[in-house]
Amino acid sequence: MSQVVIVGSANVDQVFRVQRIPAPGETVLSHGASTARGGKGQNQAVAAARAGAPTAIIAAVGADAFGALTREGLGADGIDTALLRTVAGQTGTALIAVDVSGENTIIVDPGANGLLSNLTADDRRVIAAAAVLVLQLEVPLATVIEAVETAAASSTTVLLNAAPIRDLPDTLLAGLDILVVNEHEAAHLRASRPNVELCTLVPVVVVTLGAEGALLQRRGEPDVRVAAPSVAAVDATGAGDTFCGAFATAIAEGQELERALRFAVVAASLSVEREGAVPSIPARGAIDSRLAAEGDVATTR
Ligand code: RIB
Repeated sequence: MSQVVIVGSANVDQVFRVQRIPAPGETVLSHGASTARGGKGQNQAVAAARAGAPTAIIAAVGADAFGALTREGLGADGIDTALLRTVAGQTGTALIAVDVSGENTIIVDPGANGLLSNLTADDRRVIAAAAVLVLQLEVPLATVIEAVETAAASSTTVLLNAAPIRDLPDTLLAGLDILVVNEHEAAHLRASRPNVELCTLVPVVVVTLGAEGALLQRRGEPDVRVAAPSVAAVDATGAGDTFCGAFATAIAEGQELERALRFAVVAASLSVEREGAVPSIPARGAIDSRLAAEGDVATTR
């Protein structure tokens, strides 16, 4: 039985390393290009699996070489792909520019991800049996809503990473146990609800803060901030996904929230030290070693 199940996207990333991100109308030369597995759903599944959770993915790829690459790679990471669909059309792709500071810009062509719809009886069974369901927003919103509704009838913990951000109905937020957003995504959600604290809608809200770590907000409790260890940043691509996957594993293991947050912050920090999305995601041993080396990562209230 899978402890963590991901419903989401799988892409292949075309990555270009540049001195700086080009301005509109500008052409810049890359000093290195590569192709690697990515997509927020796939990244989060790999992060959960490498952190140690039996993991399954419900996603869609095209009947093409990138689809085969994705299926094979997920299998090599020990992820259950029984519910991975191969559909007409192209596997999702992303065009990523990474500058010398490790920051990026990303354009996603959803391709097959846009055809992930109509959860099957097997999908529902796996979701209902999982400890944690993890979702993002690179697949149709109707599918995300359907998965959340499926989990509502079970004891599965529902974590939504609201990326890439879009307007979300309060009814969807009310079905979540945990919302993970970055500062930009949090601002977007707050803008349409100026007088409402997000954690009055979702009991646990985590705001990731990049190199500054993460902020945990719980209904009726003081906020907790976990600092990130300092790292030599090479590429931030997939760091938020690594955070979500590692966090889901820690929750599935029954770690209490602050400990789970420290675990996820350290996992995300490690991913920033290496290039690419999937290639940069750390294994459990590396996370535990860095956690031990850091001692108690600074926590403030
Ligand atoms: O979060 C990083 C991911 O966003 C990339 O791997 C890319 O595929 C896009 O989905």
